[in-house]
Amino acid sequence: MTFRKSLALFFSHMIAVSARRMVVHESLAAAPGSFVSQGPAPATDMLTLRLALAPNNIAGLQAKMMSISTPGSSEHRQWLSADEVKSFVKPSSATTFAVMKFASTHGLNATVISPHEDWVSITLSVAQANDLFAAQYQVYSHPSMSNTITRTLSVSLPPELVGHIQVIHPTTAFLKPGSRTGSTTGHVQHNKRATPPSCDTSLASGVMTPACLQSIYGIPATPATQSNNALLVTAYVDQSAQKADLEQFLELLRPDVDPSESFTLLSLDGGNDPQNPSDTKDDEANLDIQYTAGIATGVPLKFLSVGGDFATGLLDTTTFIHGLEDPPTVVSTSYSLSEESFGFTLASKICDGYLAIGARGISLLFSSGDGGVRGGHDDISECKNNTFVATFPNSCPWVTSVGSTIGFGPETAVNFTGGGFSNYFPIPSYQSDAVAGFLETLPTDFQGTFNSNGRGYPDVSLQGVNFQIVLGGEVTGVGGTSASTPAFASIISLINDQLIAAGKPVLGFLNPFLYYYASTALTDITAGHNSGVCPVSTVAFNAGVGWDPLTGSGTPIFDQLLAAAMGVAAPGSYNDTNAVHTSGAVVDTVSALSDDSATGTDGSNGLVRKYGPVIIGLLSGNLVLLLILVILGVGQHIRRGGTARQSSKYAPVKLREEDSMSKMAPYDVE
Ligand SMILES: *[C@@H]1O[C@H](CO)[C@@H](O)[C@H](O)[C@H]1NC(C)=O
Ligand SMILES: *[C@@H]1O[C@H](CO)[C@@H](O)[C@H](O)[C@H]1NC(C)=O
Ligand SMILES: *[C@@H]1O[C@H](CO)[C@@H](O)[C@H](O)[C@H]1NC(C)=O
Ligand SMILES: *[C@@H]1O[C@H](CO)[C@@H](O)[C@H](O)[C@H]1NC(C)=O
Repeated sequence: MTFRKSLALFFSHMIAVSARRMVVHESLAAAPGSFVSQGPAPATDMLTLRLALAPNNIAGLQAKMMSISTPGSSEHRQWLSADEVKSFVKPSSATTFAVMKFASTHGLNATVISPHEDWVSITLSVAQANDLFAAQYQVYSHPSMSNTITRTLSVSLPPELVGHIQVIHPTTAFLKPGSRTGSTTGHVQHNKRATPPSCDTSLASGVMTPACLQSIYGIPATPATQSNNALLVTAYVDQSAQKADLEQFLELLRPDVDPSESFTLLSLDGGNDPQNPSDTKDDEANLDIQYTAGIATGVPLKFLSVGGDFATGLLDTTTFIHGLEDPPTVVSTSYSLSEESFGFTLASKICDGYLAIGARGISLLFSSGDGGVRGGHDDISECKNNTFVATFPNSCPWVTSVGSTIGFGPETAVNFTGGGFSNYFPIPSYQSDAVAGFLETLPTDFQGTFNSNGRGYPDVSLQGVNFQIVLGGEVTGVGGTSASTPAFASIISLINDQLIAAGKPVLGFLNPFLYYYASTALTDITAGHNSGVCPVSTVAFNAGVGWDPLTGSGTPIFDQLLAAAMGVAAPGSYNDTNAVHTSGAVVDTVSALSDDSATGTDGSNGLVRKYGPVIIGLLSGNLVLLLILVILGVGQHIRRGGTARQSSKYAPVKLREEDSMSKMAPYDVE
């Protein structure tokens, strides 16, 4: 993928801002959303900044990745070693020299904080940061944040660093903390007091349990056998996974599994996993861990608790995984925010980090968001705003984005499923035909505004409504692309288990594989409208035949995916026979993205609120426990690993307290 257009625009913004001919690197017209400046940051306050150094050959790694991930290629699934990846990502000696010289010239200690040597940190006073980077750090508050953050609306580079430094963080990234998942309007309400072990078809949406998902998608319940096949669940913003709840969940809904099966805790940036049996705030982490333990039977499960603010946590997660000698084969992440809140340079660098992870043969799955086309404008007042909002990280072309469906016969796209097109990342080749097929179906007078040249998401989908979880000892129904993602990730883990057992390489970066086999290994979902919380009449996309920005290429068919992975299935081919071809000129008329926004320098209030797994009903845990135990008894038990702590060799920099959003109660999850 090239970012040539964006970069060209970017460099066109070069202007001299001082006698030192500083070059504007990133800037915002104003603080986005409801962030309010409380005045200049005190000059003597100390800041720790992370600097991203330009890799020596990211285009080479992109080309290599396409070659090793595309079915039919002579080097298909010949995943790279950590050293091979590093040979592409490590900065050139000229870049390292330029940055180190700059640091020493200004009396700064630049500490390398990533295994690929592409991130360094410096600690300096606000006054010096303002001077060196032509910044004006201010203290910002936000009505939904209990603490303040220190940010600047503009950051510049001295000429000797241009082309060598890609990101300075924190500078212009304003991440709104977002909404507590359970406190926003639920998508679906129900009061059904029963949790059957398999699909309850008396409810239109069904009641999702591991057994139900196994039955819908043909997922085996037999335990995985391979120990070197970890599935990693990431957790941000103080979410913790409760072992007692997981045990109760397994007793209830996977009675054939040893309920003491648990997960290995990994900790990053001070993240931890405090156990509190009455905790009911951590719906996201508990959903994620219960539906990986519940579906990826016998797969070694790891839980990475990441402290600090979300943006820093995401980038530190990339360097953490780069540094793991024994990395997981699949990573599931159910958190996101609008692309704009990260800004172009930070989002691009994090996305390159995912490229480097995927090239090692690690599958990365992210939720597509629960805000429909408006990316979390879960506010009725936004319903008439037809400028769609893209969400990140799932918009990165090097990850697999997972959307949500509802119901059976037919399974349809659920209205909240996040879907659309990136304003930052161009369309990758693996989906260009599929996306073109969709764009042709849009009427010429389609009123939604989006970047029709952008990476389309999601890639795939899975049920996402009314998943039964145990939260604080009670059975609760939750939903969201947050639910779909760990379940899809678990399917990939189970396929990897069989690949490893057969002596074959794991699936790694999934997308070229998924699009190649879409018509045979996925069930196309052809109905639905993702207007989110807005009325059905609101402008949004429609699901249709073939790929669409609601459900991607569809929902999994386990045995077909397995056959394709094993190399015994014929390739699928994208079938857009039924697509409505209205006009070849649609692409131009629907593309109204301003060039400025693609550079990440516009000041649009791109910080949008998202809502996540929504608590949609409460059931009596004891009643259900009793029922299920009576019906099923206790079957065979399977054991998973215990708990241990592990931390990265490259301990990331500790941020100042004010820069950590982790203390804030609200957070963004899907
Ligand atoms: C520079 O950083 C290194 C690594 O953190 C540390 O060991 C060293 O003491 C620092 N030097 C100064 C002058 O701060
Ligand atoms: C979204 O879909 C759910 C489930 O079908 C439905 O209950 C809800 O009313 C829908 N929301 C809107 C705003 O139409
Ligand atoms: C494509 O779909 C149509 C309608 O479902 C079907 O009739 C046709 O056989 C399909 N073509 C291929 C190549 O699968
Ligand atoms: C509509 O939404 C876009 C994207 O968030 C935003 O930039 C724009 O300001 C909004 N327009 C109005 C009129 O609120």
